[in-house]
Amino acid sequence: MSRSAHPAGPRHADVFPDGHYSAPAADLNVLDEKVWSRTVRRNDDGVATVAGIEVTRLAEEFGTPAYFLDEADFRARCRAWSDAFGPNADVFYAGKAFLSRAVVRWLTEEGLNLDVCSGGELATALAGGMPPERIAFHGNNKSAEEIERAVSVGVGRIVLDSFQEIVRVAHIAQRLGRRQPVQIRVTVGVEAHTHEFIATAHEDQKFGIALADGQAAEAVRRALKLDGIELIGIHSHIGSQIFDMAGFEVSARRVVQLLAEIRDEHGVELPEIDLGGGLGIAYTSEDDPKEPYDIAKSLLDIVTRECEAARLATPRISVEPGRAIVGPTAFTLYEVGTIKPLEGLRTYVSVDGGMSDNIRTALYNADYSVALVSRRSDAEPMLSRVVGKHCESGDIVVRDAYLPADLAPGDLIAVPATGAYCRSMASNYNHALRPPVVAVKDGEARVVVRRETEEDLLRLDIG
Ligand code: LLP
Repeated sequence: MSRSAHPAGPRHADVFPDGHYSAPAADLNVLDEKVWSRTVRRNDDGVATVAGIEVTRLAEEFGTPAYFLDEADFRARCRAWSDAFGPNADVFYAGKAFLSRAVVRWLTEEGLNLDVCSGGELATALAGGMPPERIAFHGNNKSAEEIERAVSVGVGRIVLDSFQEIVRVAHIAQRLGRRQPVQIRVTVGVEAHTHEFIATAHEDQKFGIALADGQAAEAVRRALKLDGIELIGIHSHIGSQIFDMAGFEVSARRVVQLLAEIRDEHGVELPEIDLGGGLGIAYTSEDDPKEPYDIAKSLLDIVTRECEAARLATPRISVEPGRAIVGPTAFTLYEVGTIKPLEGLRTYVSVDGGMSDNIRTALYNADYSVALVSRRSDAEPMLSRVVGKHCESGDIVVRDAYLPADLAPGDLIAVPATGAYCRSMASNYNHALRPPVVAVKDGEARVVVRRETEEDLLRLDIG
């Protein structure tokens, strides 16, 4: 295959040669709690339930395809992250993974902060009631309008991504009579992959300002001179879907080293560092993500140790998990349509959605799991490929999975762990109508993002 490897690492790249598949699970009816949101069960009739509601009922009421978001699980994960990091650190949920006003409200209530990376995300954050001082504004090419809005509403920090932006933000803030708190995003030369990382001197990518060649030190020098901005810290984000903490260790060490250099040169100890997001989740039973407590302990220990060695006061630490909070809390429910057994190969199972509601398989070769959820089946496992209804052969939702051989049109199947980067990256390809997001909690289901309609499509098309 010519597709290039996903930055998320080898589990997302072409490491499984054709013809090499894991064995089917001993019992296809088991819903592995590792990949399903916490309130998902299979009831005595064999129907899967979430928050106590049968998926068959959900399909009737809300249609398919649809995303079902387990609110109790989402809130529990928010609490787990903020408890794990404790009162001397801040957790910023990365809104790019999935953002809606309901989610913003849950975050606000659970005491989390929010990372936004566009004017649209900022608007949603504000509309959802997130206090501006708890918002961090990111992006490698923020427009003047976006900066102006962020400064005017008083976001807690803007993360500066380039030399031009240092001046641009300072200028805009000064014009507005503000002194905007900022962090500088540095690229530390760590390429993190799922189960491995590479530490290099340079990074060949568009984000941040390189530590290499004194670039970051020069950015700090310039930022400290400008009145419109107040430099409060250094930011580093090393990748996504990472299980190995060693990359964070190198990153933290390099960021602390920069703090020490800043102190030596300017006599200033910057009070904050942000180590970004990127913590991995289980998409299949083979993935083994770490718990927030272990992640927090290892990050806090590294920073404390490095600061002691550099004789710096430990700065306030922040992190920006997106996927690790919302990813596991949702599944996508589909109805099975046509089924095509290809002799000696696999069975193609077509569903009523596809790459328009989950582009990650086509884009990154990502792995997903799938299960028959509208009934139990003790039929033999059948090697399947779950595909969508788009006019494209790369329209694959689950590349290789086992479904029961008696699968039939009209059955409901569900793909777990679709909370992150599925609805947020959904498209209208082939004029598909983007599915709704339905929040479920304690036996109740409520649409938080409604299904698109043909009127929505035609409203944009002004003829
Ligand atoms: N902070 C910054 C500065 C980021 O750039 C990102 C993700 C995050 C936090 C959150 O990362 P997370 O914890 O969710 O991994 N569309 C890709 C992922 C792109 C992530 C971009 N930045 C995917 O579907 O895998």
